[in-house]
Amino acid sequence: MAEIVGFGGYVPDRVMTNDDWASLVDTTDEWITVRTGIKTRRFASEDQSTLDLAEHAARRAIADADLQATDIDEIILATDTSEVVTPDTASFLQHRLGAREIPAFDLGGSGCAGFVQALDVARARILLQPKRVLVVGVELIMRLVSWKERETAVLFGDGAGAVVMAPDGGRARVIHAVAGTDGSKAEILTLPVGGTRHPFNADVAATEAHRRLVMNGREVFREAVTRMSSSVLRLLEEAGKSITDVALVIPHQANKRIIDAVGSRLGLDESRVYVNVDRYGNTGSASVPLALWEAEAEGRIAPGDLVVLTAFGAGFHWASAALQF
Ligand code: UT7
Repeated sequence: MAEIVGFGGYVPDRVMTNDDWASLVDTTDEWITVRTGIKTRRFASEDQSTLDLAEHAARRAIADADLQATDIDEIILATDTSEVVTPDTASFLQHRLGAREIPAFDLGGSGCAGFVQALDVARARILLQPKRVLVVGVELIMRLVSWKERETAVLFGDGAGAVVMAPDGGRARVIHAVAGTDGSKAEILTLPVGGTRHPFNADVAATEAHRRLVMNGREVFREAVTRMSSSVLRLLEEAGKSITDVALVIPHQANKRIIDAVGSRLGLDESRVYVNVDRYGNTGSASVPLALWEAEAEGRIAPGDLVVLTAFGAGFHWASAALQF
């Protein structure tokens, strides 16, 4: 078995409103609200980095599990906004938490699907060898993308979420997970400059090209709706469940219109789809664990509920997981 024994999340204190964005770029509260459903998002303070956000969420999940950091046997951390270029953020987190000399690794570059992919990997690792795995999704997006590009800047926010998984004794069993990739769409949502194809140099620095997120918003929107809804249906079919068994779907929080379209394709009314994109914007791989942490803490999930997580991100990657509470 693979079960979730602790939930955690963290968002920085600094709140950025749509009107704050309207004072910086050519946008309005109305445009952002109507097109995305986002009203506010959180930004890390100058003295915070990805590691700080991850640490807060991880400590909360470990405490919620009634464990100490030294009880953790493995760390898997999903992020596209790593602490440094190398080594990975998981190395820093292992040390910061005071964990033992355990395996710790990042699952990087999967965009917003990273956490659900990591949950699937953790589940497989636990089934192979009983252990306690800390799984973190963290993003400090606003440090790495341009604040001048209205098409992308207003969509995102910073945050972190985490779970501790163990073979038994949890509040939710991961009964099944599915994942997929369509790499033919890799250029549709990408931060292309700064890697080996377009290395960082003086020209890049002068034009801030390394902070320019390339995105075909409409195509990402379409694919996100199609891939999340079809992967939920595949997940349920393979798990021997139907959509009527599902108490709550927790989708990646990118855009309220995407969430509504997924809910409508699955035939779910609003009460069975969790939404917090209005408060946090798109927090990348932090979005699903943050929403899961909040939904549990708010009492939106009861013992016996079947909860489905689903995410979609750059790659394109998608992943869904079924949790039996
Ligand atoms: O997790 C993956 C990350 N990315 C996403 O999830 C994005 C998915 N896509 C979306 O959420 C939507 O496509 C957007 C919110 C990005 C855009 O909404 P849309 O309804 O697809 O709008 P659009 O791209 O068709 O743009 C409409 C207009 C354009 O102006 P014109 O060409 O019609 O004159 C844009 O230039 O809105 C303009 N626009 C803006 N206007 C005010 C784009 N960004 C802004 C802005 N404020 N921030």
